[in-house]
Amino acid sequence: MRHKISIIGAGFVGSTTAHWVAAKELGDIVLLDIVEGIPQGKALDLYEASPIEGFDARVIGTNDYADTANSDIIVVTSGAPRKPGMSREDLIKVNADITRACISSTVSLSPNATIIMVNNPLDAMTYLARDVSGFPKNRVFGQAGILDSARYRTFIAMEANVSVEDVQAMLMGGHGDEMVPLPRFSTIGGIPVTEFIPKDRLDAIVERTRKGGGEIVNLLKTGSAYYAPAAATAQMVEAVLRDKKRVIPCAAYLEGEYGLSDIYFGVPVVLGAGGVERIIELPLNDDEKALLQKSAAAVSSTIETLKKG
Ligand code: LAC
Repeated sequence: MRHKISIIGAGFVGSTTAHWVAAKELGDIVLLDIVEGIPQGKALDLYEASPIEGFDARVIGTNDYADTANSDIIVVTSGAPRKPGMSREDLIKVNADITRACISSTVSLSPNATIIMVNNPLDAMTYLARDVSGFPKNRVFGQAGILDSARYRTFIAMEANVSVEDVQAMLMGGHGDEMVPLPRFSTIGGIPVTEFIPKDRLDAIVERTRKGGGEIVNLLKTGSAYYAPAAATAQMVEAVLRDKKRVIPCAAYLEGEYGLSDIYFGVPVVLGAGGVERIIELPLNDDEKALLQKSAAAVSSTIETLKKG
């Protein structure tokens, strides 16, 4: 059976997600945007790469939500990106309106879909998507933890001069500058990362990871990151469609886990055909708990702003 993946938003993140998803042959792809010509052009261009790369995926671009009907996965990337000096939270007003429109236009056409949110402020937009869709919490979640932990893993590999393939690292919390990389749950080839990297360097890596999105925004000046966000999103699509049961951090709806409720927040989960099949509760120490509370407070305040409209 061929799966259908609709990607809403044909900007850099949306179109690059389509690229990774097609290359992994995860299913047929519908790339949708309100701008005429852009999704059609990018989709056709990507489709025309398929004979060269040898992937069997139909890729169509559209401005019409009807083309997304019966999707297995809906990925929402639409929205404004950050400019230098902006926080992700600064995007809330404009992106909340866009998210409402995208979710209400897609869910009635694809009532059994799994929704993966990618736009910012990520945790609040995922909260909104669950609210507007009325979907069960396991089928609405947000991409951020894979991206943020990938940045963290990259910096660890750079510092220790080892393969990124051997770096495993956990990171929790909201997708903001208060996110919580967890050195105690990070290893290189199964060996604690602290065996390779001294504390002061590890602290610097944690800080760089927290500001990782801003680092790219400051370099690009005209937008935000897209290769790593898109690769992270494609990995989540793959985890669901191939029922991989990946253990990864993502923005999940909490009802008491980690002492938090009615919030979307980055936590380790098992991601498979059932979406967020399980939330894993790590035995955090007091310092880690305190950092997590700080991040949760930042996310809660953004969700409160959202609720006030
Ligand atoms: C980032 C943005 C996309 O972290 O949130 O790069």
